[in-house]
Amino acid sequence: MILIVDFGSQTSHLISRRIRELGASSKLVQPEEAIEGISKNRKRIKGIILSGGPSSVYLKNAPLVNPNIFNLNIPILGICYGFQLTAKLLGGKVISGKKEYGPALLQMVNGRSSIVNKLPKQFTVWMSHGDEIIKLPLGFDTLGSTEHVPFAFSKNSDKKIYGLLFHPEVEHTEYGIRILKNFLSICSVKLKNHEIGHGKIIKDLREKIGKSSVIGAVSGGVDSTVASVLTAKAIGKKFVPFFVDNGLMRDGTKQHLEKIFKHIGIKLKILKVQGEMLKRLKNVSDPEKKREKIGNFYIELFEEEMKKLIKRGKKVEYLLQGTIYSDVIESKGTQHADKIKSHHNVGGLPKKMKLKLLEPMREFYKDEVREIGRKLKLPQSFISIQPFPGPGFAVRIRGEVTKKRLENEKKSDSIVLEELEKADLLGKVFLSFPVLTNAFSTAVKGDGRVFGEVVALRIIESKDVMTSKWAKIPYEILQRISSRIVNEVPGISRVVYDITTKPPATMEWE
Ligand code: XMP
Repeated sequence: MILIVDFGSQTSHLISRRIRELGASSKLVQPEEAIEGISKNRKRIKGIILSGGPSSVYLKNAPLVNPNIFNLNIPILGICYGFQLTAKLLGGKVISGKKEYGPALLQMVNGRSSIVNKLPKQFTVWMSHGDEIIKLPLGFDTLGSTEHVPFAFSKNSDKKIYGLLFHPEVEHTEYGIRILKNFLSICSVKLKNHEIGHGKIIKDLREKIGKSSVIGAVSGGVDSTVASVLTAKAIGKKFVPFFVDNGLMRDGTKQHLEKIFKHIGIKLKILKVQGEMLKRLKNVSDPEKKREKIGNFYIELFEEEMKKLIKRGKKVEYLLQGTIYSDVIESKGTQHADKIKSHHNVGGLPKKMKLKLLEPMREFYKDEVREIGRKLKLPQSFISIQPFPGPGFAVRIRGEVTKKRLENEKKSDSIVLEELEKADLLGKVFLSFPVLTNAFSTAVKGDGRVFGEVVALRIIESKDVMTSKWAKIPYEILQRISSRIVNEVPGISRVVYDITTKPPATMEWE
């Protein structure tokens, strides 16, 4: 087993997923419990990974680990904060130095070590650090540097301690999996075949739900669809799905959902609340407030439906949501993590709720949910549909959501979708959408001055949502989208293309 000490990185859980996929088992522990965790399982623990995290090692409240961990004769891999902490505790020096967020080119130097087995001379790695190691501890050598930091990849071969300033666990780091595999080999871990089984999820759901009926919050997205199929397989008609038609979803969502529930063989109920939703969002422009308003409204609606079902003699305890792990971690899902945003179905929910949450996808990532969908033999159109945020267009409109701005956002969105579809690119990108930026600029339309809103286009590539690159859409297609939006959508003066990776920028603007 590999012990992962979690310093609050957005990707600590992703490290455990990668270890699992490579065929080893792992356990995540808090830094305060690390030494105790090791002594309980000393024989089973073959390696230790110290994760990244949002803190800085020189801060007063920085999470620490007992330095005895370095004397246990167990191989250690420090990642980002985990590497900085290793350096500090063993006598190196860390400062608030060169910052790197997103891609960087790693140049390997001629160091020999099993950790660099089968790595090329240079490759792209993904960074997310604001601190820098300026002096390595005694016994450490550098294996790789970037343009900005000399000690991006280091080792102490005698003690089998390794450090990476980049994240090998994220999809966009080339050879990241190779480095983790090399580390597992140094740890002498025996690897087994890994597979995600949905049979166990269904069995666990059936046991947990018991005699209760389950209210389902469904959106037509892949997460809630797969969660619904599993729940329907577990409890059949005791599953009562609802679609909150609040006007913030893409056109065609209702029809898509009708197809899904025809396939599942369960009746879908639709709650029409478009007018009320806009009323509740009046004068709200703070992104977190928007999510809270929407999350609270959803729960109000589901609790009303719960009462109706109870009146009809049903026992109702649970609300099914398609929450996935990225929603959880961005909403501060672990002790030392930062809150990036409150995903409306996690941090945006009221503190007191009558319904208990049922979230069978909570430990999975988007691509794993799609994989489960494929194993359940769901039609491709259910699985490959673009992710769409739960709070819908509300978080793609910076500032207040008014009826007019919502219409403009929807018109711009349809244009983006249509043009990508025509160019046969829609299925090739992960996410594509316009953002009403609430920034204004001058235009000349038919010789007259217009001071209109700026639309930002965001089109990105990703698999698991944790990192993304902006898509290199051909200029002609970008030109067509831009021309159509400024010509066809009233009040829009300009279109810009968002060329920011995640990290640092999240996918959505809010
Ligand atoms: P970010 O913007 O956090 O997006 O990089 C990651 C994924 O999550 C979606 N997203 C949300 N989904 N409730 C949701 O259900 C939310 O509040 C929310 N905010 C972002 C986003 O569309 C992307 O797929």
